[in-house]
Amino acid sequence: MKLLGIETSCDETAAAVVQDGREILSNIVASQVDIHARYGGIVPEVASRQHLLTVIPIIQQAMAHTRWNDLDAIAVTIGPGLAGSLLVGVNIAKAIALAHRLPLLGINHLEGHIYANWLEGREPDLPSLCLIVSGGHTELLLMRGHRDYLPLGRTRDDAAGEAFDKVARILGLGYPGGPAIEQAALGGNSTLLRLPRAWIRGSDDFSFSGLKTAVLRLVEERKGLSPNDVAASFQEAVVDVLVTKTVEAALKLNARQIILSGGVAANRLLRQALSQRSPLPVLFPSPFLCTDNAAMIACCGYFRLKQGKADPWHLDIAPNLRLV
Ligand SMILES: Nc1ncnc2c1ncn2[C@@H]1O[C@H](COP(=O)(O)OP(=O)(O)OP(=O)(O)O)[C@@H](O)[C@H]1O
Ligand SMILES: [Mg+2]
Repeated sequence: MKLLGIETSCDETAAAVVQDGREILSNIVASQVDIHARYGGIVPEVASRQHLLTVIPIIQQAMAHTRWNDLDAIAVTIGPGLAGSLLVGVNIAKAIALAHRLPLLGINHLEGHIYANWLEGREPDLPSLCLIVSGGHTELLLMRGHRDYLPLGRTRDDAAGEAFDKVARILGLGYPGGPAIEQAALGGNSTLLRLPRAWIRGSDDFSFSGLKTAVLRLVEERKGLSPNDVAASFQEAVVDVLVTKTVEAALKLNARQIILSGGVAANRLLRQALSQRSPLPVLFPSPFLCTDNAAMIACCGYFRLKQGKADPWHLDIAPNLRLV
């Protein structure tokens, strides 16, 4: 089965064709990062206008080697995300599905992030512990089966990616912050500064706002600090908390594997540390499948379709959609 996936929840306009939920036939992503970089973050109105300009050419590119008649369904992100951006994707998906008489599947963006792990030529073993670390979310859940999730913990304030972005801003490293901090940390010493870790004992929740504030205070109070050392210490603190709490939860729940996903899953220190410190196998997608893309949406749609699920024409966006 071939599905066209469409993703416009934030600042990437993306379309992809995926076969049988595992083989990527095309995967086109138009990033708006350069447009938003001058504002230091995403401007929602600018994002939705840009999606309008790019969505049709991006879909045409993704469909360059696939005939419309060969498609089995259209999968589109309905949330969580920016309302104006989501509307662009959902409306174009509806128009295409109607014109070509194809089933329409509304997909949760976070579930899409998890399914990026199915696009690497291997089927994850379930139950698996999933850690989603992205720009807007940090969620820990047990995936027992397709569409069967047990929520365990989430961030109580900033998401992990959001913390990377805000600290990069404090350090003047630019936007998006994750790759910038990772790069700066390469030239820094992570042992010189001891930054706080919020363990929230007895809970699988996370918290990163105290760490972000500690970085701000440090930079304000101690002039002349090396941004590289601060970046390295900050990255070390985030990774330490994410890895320690995830491994503890996985052992407690007898999970078979740990599945990492979301934009922060592209971070090399996080990938290495989790693989080294986990007694269980750890899976993570290739970096280009960690950040927003439509292949993960098409893949998730495939498993929905296999369960015989399709959505009605009045499918709507859900900007605050939760996974569970
Ligand atoms: N190498 C990296 N190290 C750390 N963080 C990274 C890295 N690469 C990307 N990120 C972070 O990942 C986030 C982007 O991920 P993603 O595209 O999944 O987020 P989003 O789609 O905006 O949010 P969400 O998925 O929660 O709706 C940004 O916060 C970015 O800084
Ligand atoms: Mg995302």
